[in-house]
Amino acid sequence: MNADERKSFAAFLRPERLEEPPRSLAGLADRKALRVNAGAPASDIEAIRHVTESAFARPDEADLIDQLRCDGDVLLSLVVEVQEQIVGHILFTRMCVENTPAAALAPMSVLPEFQNRGIGGQLIREGLRILRERGERIVIVLGHEHYYPRFGFSTEAARNFESPFPPESYMAMELSPGALDGVRGKVRYPAAFGL
Ligand SMILES: CC(C)(COP(=O)(O)OP(=O)(O)OC[C@H]1O[C@@H](n2cnc3c(N)ncnc32)[C@H](O)[C@@H]1OP(=O)(O)O)[C@@H](O)C(=O)NCCC(=O)NCCS
Repeated sequence: MNADERKSFAAFLRPERLEEPPRSLAGLADRKALRVNAGAPASDIEAIRHVTESAFARPDEADLIDQLRCDGDVLLSLVVEVQEQIVGHILFTRMCVENTPAAALAPMSVLPEFQNRGIGGQLIREGLRILRERGERIVIVLGHEHYYPRFGFSTEAARNFESPFPPESYMAMELSPGALDGVRGKVRYPAAFGL
């Protein structure tokens, strides 16, 4: 894979799995805080880079987040803190299906030692709740077909989209009923995705 391909959005499909992860939130729940990373202070930017690089074991996705932030394409950035340390992050950016606005979920990261404790799920649910509250109507994700459906995403909802991604991994969901009615055509991502 060359450098450009590594930076492409499709590279997000590469799974990162932990061996024998801890399954319980026991002892973590009461020390965990989720907050909107609205102003992105310098300390958060560094911490988000660390979480993202650690989760993906390479800098590409962290670079992408920095570029999206610089370009003003971030819709929502959420972090999870455990004892004041940022251990998880999720980003939503503005995208369109032809001329219909949607939110793209990508990338999302949890520090390897905190994975498989429900933090990723918490980030997604809270992100969707906030986007719905803000009046966003459609969310799109490229990801694992066994993970994202539990939050309401489906490949069926994305069937009318023209995208460069494998249809079995390309999913959408409505945040308000009927939001996807008649929505079809090419997906358009922020320039930083390099599509
Ligand atoms: C994906 C990620 C953010 C999930 O965070 P998390 O806190 O571990 O997620 P949760 O604890 O809520 O959910 C864990 C579940 O997701 C599954 N899962 C996690 N990553 C997965 C992957 N890449 N492919 C398939 N399933 C995955 C786990 O098997 C587990 O499933 P189960 O509940 O059926 O056992 C985290 O694993 C991570 O940072 N991975 C590396 C970066 C990445 O691949 N990001 C996603 C693409 S942008």
